[in-house]
Amino acid sequence: MSRPIAVLGGTGPAGMGLALRWARAGETVIIGSRDVGRAQRAAEQIRQRIADNARAGAPSTVARRRSAPDVSGMENSAACACSDLLVLTVPFEGQAALLKQLKGAIRPGSILIDATVPLAASVGGRPSRTLGVWQGSAAQQAAELVPPGVSVVAAFQNVSAEVLNGDDDVECDVIVCGDDAKATAIAMELAAKIPGVRALDGGKLENARIVEQITALLIGLNIRHKGHSGLRVTGLPERAYRAG
Ligand SMILES: NC(=O)c1ccc[n+]([C@@H]2O[C@H](COP(=O)([O-])OP(=O)(O)OC[C@H]3O[C@@H](n4cnc5c(N)ncnc54)[C@H](OP(=O)(O)O)[C@@H]3O)[C@@H](O)[C@H]2O)c1
Repeated sequence: MSRPIAVLGGTGPAGMGLALRWARAGETVIIGSRDVGRAQRAAEQIRQRIADNARAGAPSTVARRRSAPDVSGMENSAACACSDLLVLTVPFEGQAALLKQLKGAIRPGSILIDATVPLAASVGGRPSRTLGVWQGSAAQQAAELVPPGVSVVAAFQNVSAEVLNGDDDVECDVIVCGDDAKATAIAMELAAKIPGVRALDGGKLENARIVEQITALLIGLNIRHKGHSGLRVTGLPERAYRAG
């Protein structure tokens, strides 16, 4: 990618895990947060982690040897001003308010990749259940709230943050849903930069409703079997998968 990736709410486990993987892949990453200090500490943590991997002689998928990782931390709106490739990793209860607040900061023509899952835990319910969202899905809610000309794509809802924050390959498919083919292709390219991940075009943004529901199922499986489950879709021709 020639452009920086801004991970809004990137101080949490999901955003940190994605940022770590993209920084290892040589991408320029900006961690966004409501608090600039928290964002900068998260960025430093990622840089430190990759430097430790390099010192320990880890393979190139987890350590960058030729150049230092390019990870910085900013307040969310400053991150939007510096990037037109945004990844949203905040809890559902904060999604709408944050997008309304960032409306003036998100640049026209930006792509927003939404990983939000409307878990019932947001309102004190079970994490293995989802909430009904009026628009159909959290991603469709996001699409209603971004400024005109911004493309919303849904992705990464089924990838465990625990696994992303590890050093092993992420044995998981990422289903990307969106109504803008170019934005979907960019999100797929980004997903395929994570070792082990295969990206699949999941069709229209409205399909995000189904993908978000799968996360609740995976969380239930994690609780029942004490693991960090992911998703693999089999039986499609090789050309359907975008792998790094
Ligand atoms: N955890 C997973 O395994 C996983 C996997 C796939 C998808 N997801 C989805 O990805 C999203 C993030 O997951 P997470 O586990 O990283 O969540 P999290 O730790 O609860 O939150 C992530 C970050 O969002 C910011 N945030 C929290 N409440 C907010 C609010 N009310 N308004 C604005 N920002 C707020 C915080 O950053 P600051 O305080 O620094 O602003 C926080 O560090 C969720 O929607 C989740 O369902 C999670």
